[in-house]
Amino acid sequence: MATNKLSTESYKGVRDFYPEDMFIQKHIFERMRKAVEKFGYVEYGASVLEPAELYRAKSGEEIVNEQTYTFTDRGDREVTLRPEMTPTVARMVAAKRRELVFPLRWYSIPNLFRYEKPQRGRTREHWQLNVDLFGVDNIQADVEILAVAHEIMLSFGAKAGDFEIRINSRKMLEEQATKYNLTPEKAKELRLIIDKKGKMPHEEFQQKIKAIAGDNFELSQVASNDVEKVISLLKKNNIENIVFDPSIVRGFDYYTGIVFEVYDTNPENRRALFGGGRYDDLASLFDGDKIPAVGFGAGDVTIRDFLETHGLLPTYKPSAQLYIAIQDETCRESAEMLAATLRRNGTDVVLDISQKKLGDQIKIADRQKIPFVTAVGAEEVKSGAYRIKNLADGIEKILKATEISDSLKTLL
Ligand code: HAM
Repeated sequence: MATNKLSTESYKGVRDFYPEDMFIQKHIFERMRKAVEKFGYVEYGASVLEPAELYRAKSGEEIVNEQTYTFTDRGDREVTLRPEMTPTVARMVAAKRRELVFPLRWYSIPNLFRYEKPQRGRTREHWQLNVDLFGVDNIQADVEILAVAHEIMLSFGAKAGDFEIRINSRKMLEEQATKYNLTPEKAKELRLIIDKKGKMPHEEFQQKIKAIAGDNFELSQVASNDVEKVISLLKKNNIENIVFDPSIVRGFDYYTGIVFEVYDTNPENRRALFGGGRYDDLASLFDGDKIPAVGFGAGDVTIRDFLETHGLLPTYKPSAQLYIAIQDETCRESAEMLAATLRRNGTDVVLDISQKKLGDQIKIADRQKIPFVTAVGAEEVKSGAYRIKNLADGIEKILKATEISDSLKTLL
């Protein structure tokens, strides 16, 4: 029978997470969670499936027209795999606006899907920490959100010089649009060009903005009041690596106030690590009044690149602390009992089932990076004392079954 072997490659632009990758992913999520919970943010979640119309209402056009994964389900509904979390969280908050106690400090780490050209820092599925503060339209909320972003970076071990927060306000662009008599469509076109400023030569950029906004148009190089205030308040909190950048405008339609992005100062990573801003009108797409909101998204792909570039990736270790090798099969039952005792005492242990020679069992433990090993043989069964060996330095300790868990806790 002719067989067409299946490819082992994953779908284009998505990643498989082998245990060593998963370890890094978990590390990233844990640090994110710890940092945002310090500020009292609580976690929420939602399905990856959303009605397609949710994104038509108010996202960036590029996302809706070119980047969504949309299909028709068996009931003829148009469904989209969420490309971002903001419309979902706005929907959730709007749905329970009467019961929820504002201000809301919410976070989530959803996986998102965008049909993009895969490249460094860009995939078709990424995980994105979303941190959003609902119900407050004052500048303190903007400052808190930026302080949270800053704290996340520090929690990864980054130093202030390793990254930079670039901030602007949509208000500046709106004022300019009024000054130059731009229609809302032209203003949006202008914004989308400014958003891509870094991706084209300066000359081309100048030509393009003048083609949209007229020959006299010059991109304003002064920060608006809200931006000035946010920067000075953050500086008072010892957050110094924040700068006004008139080219930060963000692609999405829904932003209404400050907009910001966080960048690696190392040119190897050119893509934003975080992106966010104030979006006071999004919730009013649903029934009811507006709910002021400010927040950001921080992607796992760009953060992983950042950690790698700055030597901040954690060293892989499995959860198992001890590998119980078996010297001969007559000792298996005792080894099983030892494993059960240790697991009850909170130690993660691997019990050998390879039935290989002792030396080979130890090699398995070593190659799987399990730090300690013990071999159960007739002598151990008789004495109830076990030789616990640290594979990294070869140092051994002889311990009773009941002493092993506590001892490992101090050694690890
Ligand atoms: P965004 O700028 O599209 O914003 O994404 C935020 C971050 O997610 C980016 O800075 C990047 O780290 C990561 N990211 C985005 N797309 C990809 C991709 N294709 N591959 C890898 N990483 C990616 C938003 O999505 C807004 N909804 C964020 C927000 C929350 N605004 C307010 N609240």
